[in-house]
Amino acid sequence: MKFVKAAGALALLIASQFAQAQAWPTKSLTWVVPFAAGGPTDGMARDIADKVGKQIGQPIIIENVAGAGGTIGAAKAAKAPADGYTFLVGHMGYMGAGPALYKKLAYDPVKDFEPAFRFPDTPLVLLVGKNSPYKNASDLIAFAKANPRKVNFGNAGVGSTSHLIAALFEAKAGIDVTPVAYKGAAPALNDLIGGQVDAMFDQSNTALPQVQGGRLNAIALTSLTPMPQQYPSVAPLAEKALPGFEAATWYGLYAPKGTPKEIVQKMHQAYLKALADKAWTARMATQGINLLPEAQYSPEAFARHTAAEVERWRKVVADAKIQID
Ligand code: MLT
Repeated sequence: MKFVKAAGALALLIASQFAQAQAWPTKSLTWVVPFAAGGPTDGMARDIADKVGKQIGQPIIIENVAGAGGTIGAAKAAKAPADGYTFLVGHMGYMGAGPALYKKLAYDPVKDFEPAFRFPDTPLVLLVGKNSPYKNASDLIAFAKANPRKVNFGNAGVGSTSHLIAALFEAKAGIDVTPVAYKGAAPALNDLIGGQVDAMFDQSNTALPQVQGGRLNAIALTSLTPMPQQYPSVAPLAEKALPGFEAATWYGLYAPKGTPKEIVQKMHQAYLKALADKAWTARMATQGINLLPEAQYSPEAFARHTAAEVERWRKVVADAKIQID
């Protein structure tokens, strides 16, 4: 009898989830962005949310839940109802390196989420102030070698990509800099412009207007190859200062675990339809954003990517001795 009752309850639950997934979406959605507004994650999320929202016929509201390198917002999204109305915009930091960096993380990037789709990637750029004495990466490395902890690097919080890439740069260059953490790249960039910090790694697409507007100087790229259209005359780190150095930030959309698979698939399909807008993808390419082969955007490929990245970062964090300081 107990078994019959339990089976009946389960059947009802499945039926109601099916009906919910069929009707979805009947109201606006929320995408949690775990950094301050105006930064790279926020900008990318708003752009994609606008296009995907049009495809699903409902507005997507961005909720900025900043702090602790994205881990506060990710923890909040992990606990949100798995009803297809709340998603997390995740990236390489808190969804890749997070478990290796934080001893107590309030979420598991692999077990607590259903990946929906991956965004395009963005390479980073090493930025300094307009009047900085460092004209290239070798200048900065030479000064930092002779003056340990004298160069301040702004970043978007512990475990953000701006923090991780600066830490890898330190390890590869054999230097010791002073990290200065903010609640996102946007406030860190403001302080770089204001001269409160000396340098920063930022996403190449969002930094571009600041460099083109003459407010900051770009002195190196993390892409293996130059970006002549966006950053003419700026050399990749790999070219001279640090052979082999390469980094790009990955992003993507995650639903809390238990979100109906049909809803996750509908989100992915809406994204693919949005990407069919060639004017949009051409604009992204012009900004230096790396569009990926379509297969890499799928929920399944993004799930494999996330799991592989969590493992990769365990090794990278250990090898480079990246610590939370
Ligand atoms: C990062 O460095 O992780 C991001 O650029 C942070 C942000 O989007 O503000």
